[in-house]
Amino acid sequence: MSVPRYRWQPTTRDIARDLGIPESAIVRFDHNTSPYPPDWAAAPAAAAARRLNEYPGANYLPLREAAARYVGVEPSNIAPGAGVDEIILLAARAFLGPSRRSVTSAPTYPLYRIAAAQVGAAHLEIPAAGPSFAQPVDALVEAAADADVVWLCVPNNPTGERLDLETVETIVNATAGVTILDAAYAEIAGDRWTDLVAAHDDVLVCHTLSKGFGLAGARVGFGVGAEALVDTLDAVRPPGSIAEVSSVLAIDALDHPERMTANVHRLVTERARLADALTGVGFTVLPSAANFLLCHVGSAAGAIADHLFSRGLVVRRFPADGPLADHLRFTVRSPGEDDRLLATLEEVL
Ligand SMILES: Cc1ncc(COP(=O)(O)O)c(C=O)c1O
Repeated sequence: MSVPRYRWQPTTRDIARDLGIPESAIVRFDHNTSPYPPDWAAAPAAAAARRLNEYPGANYLPLREAAARYVGVEPSNIAPGAGVDEIILLAARAFLGPSRRSVTSAPTYPLYRIAAAQVGAAHLEIPAAGPSFAQPVDALVEAAADADVVWLCVPNNPTGERLDLETVETIVNATAGVTILDAAYAEIAGDRWTDLVAAHDDVLVCHTLSKGFGLAGARVGFGVGAEALVDTLDAVRPPGSIAEVSSVLAIDALDHPERMTANVHRLVTERARLADALTGVGFTVLPSAANFLLCHVGSAAGAIADHLFSRGLVVRRFPADGPLADHLRFTVRSPGEDDRLLATLEEVL
């Protein structure tokens, strides 16, 4: 049986080698990561490194406690994972299987489809209508009635669309099984889903340290939900997938949310500037609550992406036979990196 694979873009090292330029000259506008390296991380990482001869604690209790403090729930409501990606895969294992069915909208994060396929579940993607690609809420509500899992991405990747609490609750109430709310960009959108989790025992809200917190390389995320849901995920988790160093960095980040909020503040200011500038070069920029901008750029999308790529600027492009063929997605980076993007766009347009 052939299962769809998650395909990463080429690594920065591979691109640098192919283009014959230094890795430092490459900017990733395709990964939706933070432009701000964690300048505080070296000391806690070094301290954790001195204990690397031992296994981490099997239950990740300190990480669960830190995530619980951050969100405002109990540690028993926290399901840690090696990124939200692992939580998505755990959720598929826990709640889906050959005779089960999951539902989501399209376009959205591709791992939901892959996770469902890996466990042999049926998977329905309900297309959003252009040009805004707003999530088809009514159709989702209808399909949710016999779904074992509804995957809901808020803000949605790749559109940046945010759904409010009322809309999310409508979908949750309609779902027969479990709603997995992927809130990877919640910090950037300013979303807090604690009330949702308190009111519904069939929702798992997934947070990551990879985006607003700027720790994508550490690979840590966590789901927040009712104790019984967390327990079901714990039952299918592999032993020790979260490295001790990563766990220590995540705890430090969660215990100092002011570092994250300062960076998010800078990023949101820069997002507005970049959106204006991209509009200025003639693109149609979709409103975004996340750290990326989906733009309608027209039929030259591939040629524009190729030109940027040749200069070491890697943007997200979409399949030529899909609904986003004429679009590109740009991660909001630092003002200097974004200026480089804009100057290179001026060359090609
Ligand atoms: C919607 C969404 N969910 C999950 C992830 C992956 O998150 P993590 O790094 O925590 O695995 C991404 C990364 O781009 C994403 O866009």
